[in-house]
Formats: sequence, structure tokens, C-alpha cells
Amino acid sequence: MHLIKMTSTQTTYRAQIQASLGYFGDYGGCFVPEVLLPGLEAIAAAFDQIQTDEVFLADFHQTLREFSGRPTPLTPLPRLSAQLGGARLFLKNEGLNHTGAHKINHCIGQALLAKRLGKQRIIAETGAGQHGYATAAVCARLGLDCTVYMGRKDYERQRPNVYWMELLGATVVPVEDGSQTLNDAVIAAFKDWVAHPADTYYLLGSAVGPHPYPAMNTFFQKIVGEEIRRQCEVQAGRLPDVCVACVGGGSNALGMFFDFLDEENVRLIGVEAGGRGVQPGEHAAKLLRGRLGIFEGYHSYFLQDGEGNIAATHSVSAGLDYCGVSPILAWLADEGRVQFAAASDAEALAAVQRLARTEGIIPALESAHAFAHAFELAADLPPETVVVVNASGRGEKDLFITMQHFQGDSLQRYAQHLLDNSGRV
Ligand SMILES: Cc1ncc(COP(=O)(O)O)c(C=O)c1O
Repeated sequence: MHLIKMTSTQTTYRAQIQASLGYFGDYGGCFVPEVLLPGLEAIAAAFDQIQTDEVFLADFHQTLREFSGRPTPLTPLPRLSAQLGGARLFLKNEGLNHTGAHKINHCIGQALLAKRLGKQRIIAETGAGQHGYATAAVCARLGLDCTVYMGRKDYERQRPNVYWMELLGATVVPVEDGSQTLNDAVIAAFKDWVAHPADTYYLLGSAVGPHPYPAMNTFFQKIVGEEIRRQCEVQAGRLPDVCVACVGGGSNALGMFFDFLDEENVRLIGVEAGGRGVQPGEHAAKLLRGRLGIFEGYHSYFLQDGEGNIAATHSVSAGLDYCGVSPILAWLADEGRVQFAAASDAEALAAVQRLARTEGIIPALESAHAFAHAFELAADLPPETVVVVNASGRGEKDLFITMQHFQGDSLQRYAQHLLDNSGRV
């Protein structure tokens, strides 16, 4: 595939990403089996066209409005701000999107693009199930056949989303290989695509993978930051001083950050999964503790063992439990434009409870990592500072995980009740 490395003649970060053609500094690229190259080239060419195609963009924005419910609100958090005694906190509620998370933004964009390419069969991978759930919903709406790969561990721990996907008519395939999480689901989806390159479109769920997926999913997600800019100007009378987002592969973070990349006074912070500790296998913090490598079609930071094999990952949130990270974020980290931190499982769970009790909003466990960090940060900032946190998803999908943590006994009683009454309607 024809790839051009970025040059210093392109000045702004946004322009560099838009003109990158696949490389962000040394990161990115397109490292795939030969059989996939024609398909990726066709997707890259279509992506090139649609960015300025008014008919496509009108269809995309209309579907975001009418199907997903955009714009999502920017919600002030006055009680939390007062409790923390520092900055003014706001939350961008991507959890109010149809299907419960930001994932639907790039699902709508890619499914419309797949239709334009004449593909009738969509495959996807999913971790938390949010990307799979959104893919299944969009495919049902557009009349596309849908198969979703999901690591067996995620299939079991995110069971409500498996049910929703199946109800929407998708086939959900549990992947028994490896650590049975997102990484293994990505590999299974690639194997499927290699076997069916002609009729199948791989609807990839984050700003990772071979060119053009990182730039393309960033393009479809940038609506998040564009809305924040307008809403913050009206509601706070200024741009945010700090934007905070959790980082799995990087799609919600890049969606939030993209529009502010060239505003040097807006600080951008990505929060990775600190899990249970810094030992290998206990976390999923790629930018803080990963090493350079090429995997799943792209060059970036990956969690690896001493021999360069992909290492096990852990996070209480399935959506952050992934071994790699967007090449765009890897480059922005090198540039010093985005800073990175980690929040632990325990901190994320505490943040779910605190946000629920103080502001009446239950975030997804993934998003709770961003809140945990923002709470710490906001406490030390002056009161005129505006901090916006991306609530990338809502917490309903985590019912059984958070309930196990906060009310283990009542979860067991409920499970027993269901067993005792199974078979009765
Ligand atoms: C609600 C939510 N937030 C965040 C993520 C992490 O993905 P990304 O880093 O691509 O936004 C996921 C992934 O499943 C998710 O479901």
C-alpha cells in the first residue's frame, strides 16, 4: 500500500493527521497479509472521498441525530466540583448515545462506507461488547449481515451485551484462544477477513489497526470534541482548560481531543487501565509501560513479555483490557501533546460509586478510569478552571461486575432466584 510519512511542512496536529496517509511519526502503517491489501486500499480510497462528500456527510450526521440521538449533552457536575473544592467539572455524556457508548459514532460512519463499497457482510470484534452492540444495531438498521467476535472471558463477563447483539440478529462467536479477551477477538476477525476478503467488510472498533482505520475512526469520532467546543463556549463561556478521557485503543480519547489538538491552552490527558498493579499481566497501560512492536497490522506500543510476545493484560473494564494503543496517540505522546496517567481497578470502581451518588450518573467502568484521575486532578486546580471528562459510556452493561463488587450477596440471591424460577415466564 502507498503510504507517505508525515513531513514537518504540515503545521498543525490536525492537518498532519488528516494528511498522514497512514503514518504518524514512526507509528501506524499497514502490515497485513497480501490478500487484504486490495480491500484496505478500497477502504482508504473511499475514506479519502467521503471526507469532502456532502451527500455522505449529510447522511452520516442525519443518522447520528435521528438514530443515535446526537448531540449528547455536556452536563455540569456542581456537587462534585464543590465537594472536590477545585476546578469546575463537566461531563460529556456519550453514554446517552443509542446503545450506550461513543462506539456508535464510528459504527455508523463505517457501515455507511461499507454500503458504499457494496459489502453486505460485516464482521467486528468487541471487548466490553459496546462496539459489537453498536455494530449489530447499525447493521440491523441498514440491512447488513453481522458477525461479532468476542473473547470467551469477555463473552461471559459482558453477557448482557451478548444478549442484545443476538436480539439484534447478529451472530456472536466466542473466541477460545489466548487470553480470551479483545486481542484474541481482533485476531479471529482478521482470520475471518482473510478467508472472505471479497464480500466482507471488517468494521474495526477503535483507532487502531492498519491504515486507514486509525485516521478513519478518529474522523468519525471527532464529532465528540466539536460538540464539546460549542457546548463549553455556551455553558462555561470558554473552552475547556483540561479534557480527560480513558484510553483502551484510543477512539473516545481521540474523538474528544481531535478538535482541541491545535489549541495549545487546552490540556489533554488520556487515562489507561492501571488494573491491580504494575507487574506484567496485572494492567493494560500500553503508553506508560508498553514496548514498541508491530501487531494486528500497525506499529505502536504493545504490552509484551521479555521475548516480544504479546503479554497478558488485565483490567476490571473489558473495554480497556487490550494489549495495543492507537498509533496516533503514540505519536501525540512523543510530541508531548497528550499526557498519560493510569487509574487502578479499585479507583475506577470507587469513581463509579462517587459519580452515581453525587451527580446521579452511572458511568461505564472504562469511563470511570477517566473520572478517577479527573477527581484527583480537579481538587488541586483553581476554581475558574474548566475540566471536561468524557463519559464514553453508561454503566448498565457493568451491572453484574459492579453489583458483585458492591453487593455480592444480593447478586448471589438474585442469581439463585433466576435459577429457581427458570422455565416460568
Ligand atoms: C464505554 C467504553 N469506553 C471506552 C472504551 C475503550 O475504547 P476506546 O479507547 O477505543 O475508546 C470502550 C471499549 O469497549 C467502551 O466500551
